[in-house]
Amino acid sequence: MTFIQRPRRLRRTEAIRALVRETRLSPDDFVYPLFVCEGEGIRREISSMPGCFNLSLDELVVEATAAKGDGLRAIILFGVPDDKDATGTQAYAEDGIVQRAIRAVKREVKDLLVIADNCLCEYTDHGHCGVIQDGEVVNDPTLDLLVQTAIAQAEAGADIIAPSNMMDGFVEAIRAGLDATGFENTPIMSYAVKYASAFYGPFREAAQSAPQFGDRRGYQMDPANAREALREAELDFAQGADMLMVKPALPYLDIIRAVRERFDLPIVAYQVSGEYAMIKAASRLGWIDEQRIVAESLTSIKRAGADLILTYFARDLAQRL
Ligand code: PBG
Repeated sequence: MTFIQRPRRLRRTEAIRALVRETRLSPDDFVYPLFVCEGEGIRREISSMPGCFNLSLDELVVEATAAKGDGLRAIILFGVPDDKDATGTQAYAEDGIVQRAIRAVKREVKDLLVIADNCLCEYTDHGHCGVIQDGEVVNDPTLDLLVQTAIAQAEAGADIIAPSNMMDGFVEAIRAGLDATGFENTPIMSYAVKYASAFYGPFREAAQSAPQFGDRRGYQMDPANAREALREAELDFAQGADMLMVKPALPYLDIIRAVRERFDLPIVAYQVSGEYAMIKAASRLGWIDEQRIVAESLTSIKRAGADLILTYFARDLAQRL
């Protein structure tokens, strides 16, 4: 018997398409990034990220409450301090902006996970993710400060620590520091595979964290490398990371897939500021359908193998799902 194979049978109506759909988005998948700044009553829009803001503590609580109301379960916090110095003191100060923000959200918003980004670049006056000696970002002295930062964040009540600094050995150092201070139950979401990407441009405006000299290619990864991504992920896995992140997301779907296939930890993808800005810009020009592009991009990231996605579209999407 000969007959035509007819895959179109399962595409004829939305009902049947929904029945056989392989990948679904849910508000449970998303983490919503927020930028917290000093002051009061501040909700300052980031010009290259329309719809995203620098928020003072009071406005942060308003935004976090709304995010929870939309069905989201987690936010990740980035600090925009007034005072920066060579060693990023405000990153690990007990009353640093992020520590105060964590306390405020944990106090005011019930059952919302607060993830703390762990890096120095928003807090250093030179904008690098570590301490500088002789014009270089030095690894091991930086680790001590990252550990102090993680402990300060955990003491403030952070539910998860997410180190994004790309120093060697950061997971092991932070794990040891957390364990030694009674935070053995605080998970580490490691930015294991973080590329030196031009897609972070708008974030650096948002966090005022652009490096004042040089660039981050001495610690973040070369976009050309895929095997090296597996090595980075392997190291963090071995050092005790609880989740592995790949960042950026859409230009690195092959990497998300490769890490997914190799490791049985939850895989996280970060749809970064530049990915957000491009979609916003094209949709403002009327060139694309924003809602469909957002859903399609996030579905692709999940289909590639991400369990969790950090995205500035988290609220928009949660409202629609
Ligand atoms: C901090 C950090 C950056 C991002 C997340 N954590 C910036 C950078 O490495 O320059 C970028 C996120 C985004 O672009 O949305 N190191």
